[in-house]
Amino acid sequence: MPAVQLPTTAELRHALPLVSVRGLRVAYDEQLVLNGVELDLFPGEMVALLGASGSGKSTLMKSLTGFAPISGGSVRVAGHDVTNLARGELRTLRSEVGQVFQQFNLIPRLSVLSNVLTGALHGAGPINMVGGFSSAHRARAMHLLDRVGIAHKAKDAARSLSGGQQQRVAIARALMQQPRAILADEPVASLDPKLADSVLELLREIATEDGIPVLVSLHVLPLALAHSDRIVGLRHGEMVLSGRTAQLDAAQLAVLYQDEEGAGDERDH
Ligand SMILES: Nc1ncnc2c1ncn2[C@@H]1O[C@H](COP(=O)(O)OP(=O)(O)OP(=O)(O)O)[C@@H](O)[C@H]1O
Ligand SMILES: [Mg+2]
Repeated sequence: MPAVQLPTTAELRHALPLVSVRGLRVAYDEQLVLNGVELDLFPGEMVALLGASGSGKSTLMKSLTGFAPISGGSVRVAGHDVTNLARGELRTLRSEVGQVFQQFNLIPRLSVLSNVLTGALHGAGPINMVGGFSSAHRARAMHLLDRVGIAHKAKDAARSLSGGQQQRVAIARALMQQPRAILADEPVASLDPKLADSVLELLREIATEDGIPVLVSLHVLPLALAHSDRIVGLRHGEMVLSGRTAQLDAAQLAVLYQDEEGAGDERDH
C-alpha cells in the first residue's frame, strides 16, 4: 500500500483562508451598507474588489481592520476574531495588515526612506522617534525600496516624487510591517493607465512571492481583468459576484454596474 502523504504545515497554511468573512452586516446610522457579505482570501492570491460607487468596497476593507461598525456576522483575519477582539489585539491586527490608499498618505516633507521606516512603527506602541531607527530597520527599508524599484530616491522628499513613485513608497511602507495581508483601496485611481498597470503588477508580484493575499478595490474593469486571480463584486452592499478572473464572462460582470447611473438617487429615497 502506498504511504499516505500528509500535507506539510506550509501546504496547510496555503489551503486555509487568511481572511474569512461570513454574513457580515455593517450599518451606519441604522442604514445597512453591507448585508450578508461572504469573502475568503487565500495566501498568494490577488483579488480585485469591484462595485459601483457607494456599493461598500471601502466599508468592507475597513471591516477587516476594525474600522467599521460591524452589526452582525463574523470576520476573521490572520487568526483574529475582528468582532470580538481581546484587549490590545486591535493594534496587533492592524500591525499585521498592510494598507495602501488612493492618496498614498505619505508625509510629504519627510524623505522617502523615513516614510518607509514609519511602517516599522506599527504595533510598536506609542511612537518614540527619539531613539531613531535601528540600522537593521534602515537596511530593511532600503532593501524594500530596492524591491519596489526606487532605491535611488531614498533621500528625496516624498513630495518630490511622481504619483506612481509615491505609491511605490507607500507599498514599501506597508511591506515594512511584514504584513500577513495587504488591503489596497483604489491604489491606482490617481495614476495614469501605464503607472496603474505597473503598480498593480507590483502588488500581484508581492502576493505571489510573499504568499500573502492582496485585496485591491478598483474602478476600472480592464485593470481588474488584467491583474487579478479572482474577482469579487459588491452591489448595494451585497456580494453578488465571486469567481476566478479567467472564468468570468461579460454578462456576470455587467451585473455590477447595471444600474450605476441613478443608483445613488434610488437609495437616497
Ligand atoms: N462613515 C460613514 N458614515 C455614514 N455612512 C457611511 C460612512 N462610510 C460609508 N458610508 C456609506 O456607506 C455606503 C458605502 O460606502 P463605501 O465608501 O464603502 O463605498 P465604496 O464602494 O467604497 O464607494 P467608492 O467607489 O465611491 O469609493 C455609502 O452609501 C456611504 O454613504
Ligand atoms: Mg471607496
